[in-house]
Amino acid sequence: MRAVCRVLSLTIAAFALVMLTGCPPTQPAGETSPKPGETPKTDPGNKPTAGGAGTKTSWGEDGGVVIGSYMSLTGGTATFGQSSNMAMGMAVEQANAKGGVLGKKIKLVVEDAASKAEDAANAAQRLLDVHKVCLGIGEVASSLSLAAAPSFQKAGIPMLTPASTNPEVTKKGDCIFRSCFTDDQQGAYVASFAIKKGLKKGVILKDITSDYSKGLTEVIGKVFPGSGRTIDRVEAYKQGDRDFAAILTKIKELKPDVIFIPGYYEEVGLIIKQAREQGITATLLGADGWDSPKLAEIAGASLDDKCFFVNHYAQSDPRPVVQAFVTEFRKRYNEDPDALAACAYDAMNIALRAIERAQGTDKDALKKALAATKDYDGVTGTITLDADRNASKSCVVLGFEGGKQKAAGTITPADLKAK
Ligand code: PHE
Repeated sequence: MRAVCRVLSLTIAAFALVMLTGCPPTQPAGETSPKPGETPKTDPGNKPTAGGAGTKTSWGEDGGVVIGSYMSLTGGTATFGQSSNMAMGMAVEQANAKGGVLGKKIKLVVEDAASKAEDAANAAQRLLDVHKVCLGIGEVASSLSLAAAPSFQKAGIPMLTPASTNPEVTKKGDCIFRSCFTDDQQGAYVASFAIKKGLKKGVILKDITSDYSKGLTEVIGKVFPGSGRTIDRVEAYKQGDRDFAAILTKIKELKPDVIFIPGYYEEVGLIIKQAREQGITATLLGADGWDSPKLAEIAGASLDDKCFFVNHYAQSDPRPVVQAFVTEFRKRYNEDPDALAACAYDAMNIALRAIERAQGTDKDALKKALAATKDYDGVTGTITLDADRNASKSCVVLGFEGGKQKAAGTITPADLKAK
């Protein structure tokens, strides 16, 4: 079903492009991409698996600069890693088609973090010990980045997380960088959206196995209350839980206006479905962890126009850098790039530019160059790293229509101050 939808949406996208530009989408010279229905091309270093391009473990060419990534290609947050992987591979292939970096070809080696903290730590260690990478990109889920960061810090090799938002990640040391906003910002965005909507009675459902969820819960709990607004209850669940009936029954009695669900798509999808089945009509509000094609698959028709989440980018953003990325990603992979893909694409390009500015892969020069990232015009916005190696950025709010994401506004750092 998902494949059929993808082919359909690609066909519609291509049709729309022809209608807009009067010509079919063109392809950069020297690059090939699969046609709808074809499997993406693979290279000899690739382990063929069920996930297609999303689970490729090497991209690019040998003999030059080796960059490593640890990402979850399997397990409960696999779509995060798979999307990121495809986007990083695309960035590497695009750069290699233009001659690589500093005249050298780029190779990306990917180790599976398997959606588990322990596996993430081992994957990071393998990148350092076996593949001798000059830089690591990973992870998405904050708990996994937190588990792997000490290995990079100990080795003095820079690690750049494209999408881990928990504030603690970059506090692991001066080798750890992030090219997205933190949950201090994201949580405030979530709360401020609820405030703007005039919602008063809130409850939070938090995943106590996730540093991401725990951090966001804290921020929402600080920013939302006041002026007649309250958080009446915080209920806990665990990654892997499937039956939320008992929790939802308790929440229903409280008659909340808004239920904040700062979790990941697997559990969030089930919570949304079961909440609506129980007749809970409150606004359901979340953050970037909702972003997966699986959310709509799991929640079905329950994913209605009272469900919203804060995210890093919107596919419909008309900025040329966004549209070029979306078009090329769809052309290569026959699917829409989610925020993970956008964040990972930006992270890889920031890393490549840092290598260029560092004039090589010396770890200290590379760290300095990364720290100096300024005004990078990325798919997820303009990226400047601050003194704490984080990026302050705007967010988009996404709603849903017929199971498809629909842009519902933007919130900027200035909006938060104005509140
Ligand atoms: N921000 C999430 C975390 O830190 C990961 C995530 C990023 C999920 C972007 C979806 C989209 O755990």
